[in-house]
Amino acid sequence: MIDKETTYVKVNPDSPSSEGVREAGRILREGGLVAFPTETVYGLGASALNPRAVAEIFKAKGRPDDNPLIVHISDKNQVPDLTDEITVQTGRLMEAFWPGPLTIVLHKKPVVPDVVTAGLHTVAVRIPDHPVALEIIKAAGVPVAAPSANSSGKPSPTTAEHVLRDLEGKIDMIVDGGACRVGLESTVIDMTSEPPVILRPGGISREDIEGVLGHVETDINQVSSTGTPRSPGVKYKHYAPKAKVIVVTGDDYAKIFARIAELVSEYRSAAKRVGILASAEMARGYCADEVFPVGSRTRLETVAQNLFYGLRFLDGADVDVIIAEGYPETGIGSAIMNRLIKAAGGRVIYV
Ligand code: TXA
Ligand code: MG
Repeated sequence: MIDKETTYVKVNPDSPSSEGVREAGRILREGGLVAFPTETVYGLGASALNPRAVAEIFKAKGRPDDNPLIVHISDKNQVPDLTDEITVQTGRLMEAFWPGPLTIVLHKKPVVPDVVTAGLHTVAVRIPDHPVALEIIKAAGVPVAAPSANSSGKPSPTTAEHVLRDLEGKIDMIVDGGACRVGLESTVIDMTSEPPVILRPGGISREDIEGVLGHVETDINQVSSTGTPRSPGVKYKHYAPKAKVIVVTGDDYAKIFARIAELVSEYRSAAKRVGILASAEMARGYCADEVFPVGSRTRLETVAQNLFYGLRFLDGADVDVIIAEGYPETGIGSAIMNRLIKAAGGRVIYV
């Protein structure tokens, strides 16, 4: 499906108010599709109140229609338009983490179309912490439904160039506001159950949420006892480059290094091109076709920031296999490992 002229505009996050942003708002209000930067990843927006526009998002991405979308707003005052129920606990979360990389699942009002929520009785809502995203949502004057702006199944886009590569000719506009700060998606928390349940680890850590709410459950399989996925997105193939991905993880970095070095020589003697997604600390020691230093073990937020970028970079370098180092599963490390394990389709080696 290549049938649209995709307009590309750059907007400076330091002075977001611009003709480009006003045009993006107009397109959204009139039922078009606009990709825009958020602090997590680029989103592909449509008016959340326009079912036909939202249906176009699914087409452009090739997204299964039983995977609901997050509704983005620019102000807490808009929450009552979407839900009747804001508990004290939910209010605390919004106060602590909005704007920011936390998506809150709430009971939905009938005004939210079924196509947005994939027929669920709940709606996922967040206020992004990015000046360009906020200006665009304000200019649109409507809540904006937006999944990550990648082709379904690919790593999420953290630059406008990633979006162009996946969606050029399929959407009306791309707003380039530079690289995303967080680099992986928001944490999704279901506040309709007691205790609340984290459905997807992301930019806000479980530890930070528990600092506000006390104990929360984590449902990484996101399948309820009846077998229905609570967050339908998680059952699909995700974050997958063309290359085969393998994760090597454990507590001892020297062991991770040694096992990866072994794998590299095995694959290379089988005439395969190998890329490594390496921590800055270990990157120099490897001898492979491509080594991408993703970030520092002492600052895992840098690993999160460059994770999807690195996967896409190595894919672009046409390697057959990508071997990724694993990280400790605490703080943002949980979200990093969640994405890596999905990208690997479960091919994880523990050393
Ligand atoms: O950081 C992010 O969250 C980015 C930016 C653009 O905001 N968006 C994003 O959207 O990652 P997407 O569509 O790629 O992922 C949304 C996730 C999916 O796993 C989906 O199943 C879940 O949120 N979700 C959406 N609505 C839900 C609902 N009502 N109940 C449970 N899960 C929901
Ligand atoms: Mg996505």
